[in-house]
Amino acid sequence: MIDRNTVQQIIDTADVVDVVSDFVTLRRRGSNWVGLCPFHNDRTPSFYVSRAKQIYKCFSCGEAGSAVNFLMKHEQMSYPDALRYLAAKYHIEIKERELTDEERAAQTERESMLIVNEWACRWMEEQLWNTSDGQEIGLSYFRDRGFTDATIRNFRLGYCPDSGKALYNAATQQGYNRELLFKLGLCKDDQHGGGYDFYRGRVMFPIFNVAGKVIAFGGRTLKKNDHAKYFNSPDSIIYDKSSSTMYGLYQAKRAIAQQGKCFVVEGYADVISMHQAGFENVIASSGTALTDGHIHLLHRFTEHVTELFDGDEAGIRAAMKGIDKLLSHGLNIKVLLLPDGDDPDSYCRKHSSSEIQQYIDEHESDFIQFKTRILLEGVQNDPIKQSQAIADVVRSIAVIPSEITRSVYAKECSRLFGVSEEMLLREIKKRIDINKEESFKQREREQRRQEARTATEEPHDDGPVASQPAPADRQGQQAVNDQLSPAYREEREVAKLIAKYGMCYLCDTQYEDGVSPTNVVEYIYNEQSKYPEITFKDQTFAQIFDLALGELEPFYQALDRKEQEVAVRKHEQCEQEIRAIDPVGKSVDVLENEEKRIRSKYEKECVDEVNDFRQAYLERRLCSHPDDRVREMSSRLVTERYQLSKIHTQFAHVVTDFERLPVLVPEALDNWKFAIVKRKIDGIKQRLKTVTSYQEVRDLLEQQQALQNELATLAKLVGERVVNP
Ligand code: CTP
Ligand code: MN
Repeated sequence: MIDRNTVQQIIDTADVVDVVSDFVTLRRRGSNWVGLCPFHNDRTPSFYVSRAKQIYKCFSCGEAGSAVNFLMKHEQMSYPDALRYLAAKYHIEIKERELTDEERAAQTERESMLIVNEWACRWMEEQLWNTSDGQEIGLSYFRDRGFTDATIRNFRLGYCPDSGKALYNAATQQGYNRELLFKLGLCKDDQHGGGYDFYRGRVMFPIFNVAGKVIAFGGRTLKKNDHAKYFNSPDSIIYDKSSSTMYGLYQAKRAIAQQGKCFVVEGYADVISMHQAGFENVIASSGTALTDGHIHLLHRFTEHVTELFDGDEAGIRAAMKGIDKLLSHGLNIKVLLLPDGDDPDSYCRKHSSSEIQQYIDEHESDFIQFKTRILLEGVQNDPIKQSQAIADVVRSIAVIPSEITRSVYAKECSRLFGVSEEMLLREIKKRIDINKEESFKQREREQRRQEARTATEEPHDDGPVASQPAPADRQGQQAVNDQLSPAYREEREVAKLIAKYGMCYLCDTQYEDGVSPTNVVEYIYNEQSKYPEITFKDQTFAQIFDLALGELEPFYQALDRKEQEVAVRKHEQCEQEIRAIDPVGKSVDVLENEEKRIRSKYEKECVDEVNDFRQAYLERRLCSHPDDRVREMSSRLVTERYQLSKIHTQFAHVVTDFERLPVLVPEALDNWKFAIVKRKIDGIKQRLKTVTSYQEVRDLLEQQQALQNELATLAKLVGERVVNP
């Protein structure tokens, strides 16, 4: 645990240009630095790094973020590891925060478990290489399967002797705690104070987390008719089957980043054989269906996934199952089926690397071609089956978050099925609405459940706009739920202003105790107290705003220091430059003018530097925040249209968003209110369709009229209002 102040110091000190330069060659271009993007196959430099903004962005692939993001993405570091890396680079001493007793207990247990697993892994490697049973049974099995010694060592494969309690005895002799052995699933309690080995007589596949620590094992039987081919570790505080890791990820992560794509196979043996054949960007789902947790993890490394399965029915079914889930996370999916009867392992053993590559090139198909081919097989003359097939593909396309990607697939689908693109797009849209509706209902159900649990006595507001913030979204639903926030687009604009310009001065505000300068965050806060309806329904935006509010105090303190420091420094520089004026042969007027010019130059520099500080302050903190969603959303928001948003006036002066803040901020808020009121009116219209009593109809119509008036007023304001500076 790094303490908060150190984290802040690291974030403030780290310079994104420095950090990126260690991995990418950058050249100066104007106020930016540019280079070839390390996140995609870049031919011309489209990777921009801005020292002033402390942000990098690729204008080709869209990757963007802070120095911390860069390390996390490029080096596949965890958040704390990225901070430690930066601390070491800038010689910042890390003060680890004192852990609470609970945390310490959990941590020591965690660490002990990792230590025991590491010991067991090494011990089982020893058995494999250095005992006669290990060599005759385990090693010869692996070699017969075609694994080279280097491969066996790379994946740290091992052997657990058949004697029954060899591992248990060795471990307890070394002083390892038997409870830990049980918790880890390495041994079982024999109920007589001893224990026996869970994996006895099996060859062992250790499972690593992303950082390379052994968190679990899979043990394969060598007997023909064993009831279970594999035994796997149980879940524990170091291993969550559904999200901790995927088999092979540790060995694959570099290759995945380099090649920008990843193969997903089913089994341990498939990963290892492909690796050995030279295809290192491969991981396994280990025989289970992909979970949201797996995909979230995978998404950290790449957006391009190819599912590689046997061509038999089971393989096809597995591929189909994975598709929609991967799509809904915004990943690009391809499918590669092997010839019937082969799995990746057997195929790799039968063919040379170049043959495998050729097979991939020729048979990798995008998910839509795959689905179409499978679904249309043998139903050419059956219109009902055909339309079912189309509906199935439409369902898949509808879960894709990006509209652009959806339309590309619609085009593809229209070509393959020979139906019109417009019709498909209409169907997709319908499907999206159905999905939204379903997840909206689901969300309401969850909300009601939550409300029932907390049972507050607050009066229940069942107006058309849900007034409570959404409960925690489940990851897989994220794409749909984002669209669900009633005024998502409008909220996003306001959140963008907060992330980019939150601490920038906006206007003076008249409070009860006098006039006070107000920044963007404070202005929005004030507006919210006047119009409580404009609160963020989207969780991530709400979190960003809360963080911004929490930063106000520390910001103003830091601003004071900054202003003083800049004033003193600029004053000194200014006086120095004035003293250096050569008076010879100049009239008093000329000298005075020259002095005036110098003074105003430094005044301007002063203002600019403080403005830059205001702007960078919040941005840095948000874009380096430990919460993945806050960090990623902020990075996206602050880099959006970051070069293109400038308006060129007829005087060739560039008006930046920064200069237009007094227009942009109130406009964004008005748009937001507008969207909310409009949504309420829609709600009333909807209800009018169902109510029957005359009284109710009249009430609703009155409400509607009032809202219409409000809407008209807002409509007039939108685009016209400016806060008085
Ligand atoms: N699996 C499992 N338990 C089982 C069977 C399978 O956990 N009883 C998981 C393993 O992770 C395995 C994967 O599902 O790697 C795929 O199963 P399978 O294709 O049967 O295993 P392979 O690894 O291909 O094993 P082998 O080639 O050695 O038979
Ligand atoms: Mn196999």
